[in-house]
Amino acid sequence: MSIVLSVKNLTHTYNNNTPFAHNALSNVSFTVNSGEIVGIIGHTGSGKTTLVSHLNGLLKPTSGDIIIDGKNIWDDPKHIKEIRSLVGLVFQYPEYQLFEETVYKDIAFGPKNLGLKGEELHKRIVETCKTVDIDEKFFDKSPFELSGGEKRRVAIAGIMAMRPKVLVLDEPVAGLDPKGRNDVIKMIEEYRNTYNATVLIVSHNMENMSVLADKLLVMNGGKVSMFDTTENVFKRGEELRKIGLDTPIITKVFDRIREKGYIVPDNIFTVYDAVKYLSSVKVQGGDTDV
Ligand SMILES: Nc1ncnc2c1ncn2[C@@H]1O[C@H](COP(=O)(O)OP(=O)(O)OP(=O)(O)O)[C@@H](O)[C@H]1O
Ligand SMILES: [Mg+2]
Repeated sequence: MSIVLSVKNLTHTYNNNTPFAHNALSNVSFTVNSGEIVGIIGHTGSGKTTLVSHLNGLLKPTSGDIIIDGKNIWDDPKHIKEIRSLVGLVFQYPEYQLFEETVYKDIAFGPKNLGLKGEELHKRIVETCKTVDIDEKFFDKSPFELSGGEKRRVAIAGIMAMRPKVLVLDEPVAGLDPKGRNDVIKMIEEYRNTYNATVLIVSHNMENMSVLADKLLVMNGGKVSMFDTTENVFKRGEELRKIGLDTPIITKVFDRIREKGYIVPDNIFTVYDAVKYLSSVKVQGGDTDV
């Protein structure tokens, strides 16, 4: 496994050298391997958006380094354009940035800017939509005719059509209903699986994180408080609660059962884990196939 991204001692002070200086990130360091999905969690104001805005050069570090594919992105300002095609950043509520008259044109906007045209551009759009399950019947529709969840998926597909090696998403499921959330999660997984991309995803939704993320980066007050496998982080429920976070609900259910004196595992993070465990213990009746 190769390292695709390293963040080294990243510090960011907004309005540096003014009376309004505010230190949003202090000495943040971590590395991400190619093909990994890393969830970034932390209570409001902990620095998640500030952190991800550095990954494609949107914000410049006050100090510290961002190294992508072996290149320090600020070594040569000419790298920044290259970095922006390597790292795709999906902002919060990306659907507000849809503006073309059709879905097709909206998805084409990014790859066109990268210089794709003609048949190559068309192939890219069709292929991307197939991968992430956006039906071609949407192509000629106005983005404004779509539901909220569909709009969100089209906006994300527009970034994916640029085929970023590193895809960064800031709260991509915020404000969606359960189906909308699942659809977005599925498209992120498909993108990673198809292109072996690396994904960093900011989310407050622990259920989604438990099924999607290989590792979790926990931010607290602008610092990294944990960086470990999702399983190891969710085993530290007490510490998470102290910094305003939580574990998935199913994990809490099993914690309560354990508190009552039953011996049950401490690594149940998804409903699937729970069903698998419960069907392995002797419960009368039922279908044990999961
Ligand atoms: N443009 C800005 N100017 C000054 N301070 C800012 C600016 N943007 C963010 N901050 C401050 O920096 C800190 C980190 O903010 P940031 O938006 O990165 O947090 P976050 O973890 O993304 O929060 P949320 O979960 O609410 O999105 C906060 O204290 C915030 O008030
Ligand atoms: Mg934020």
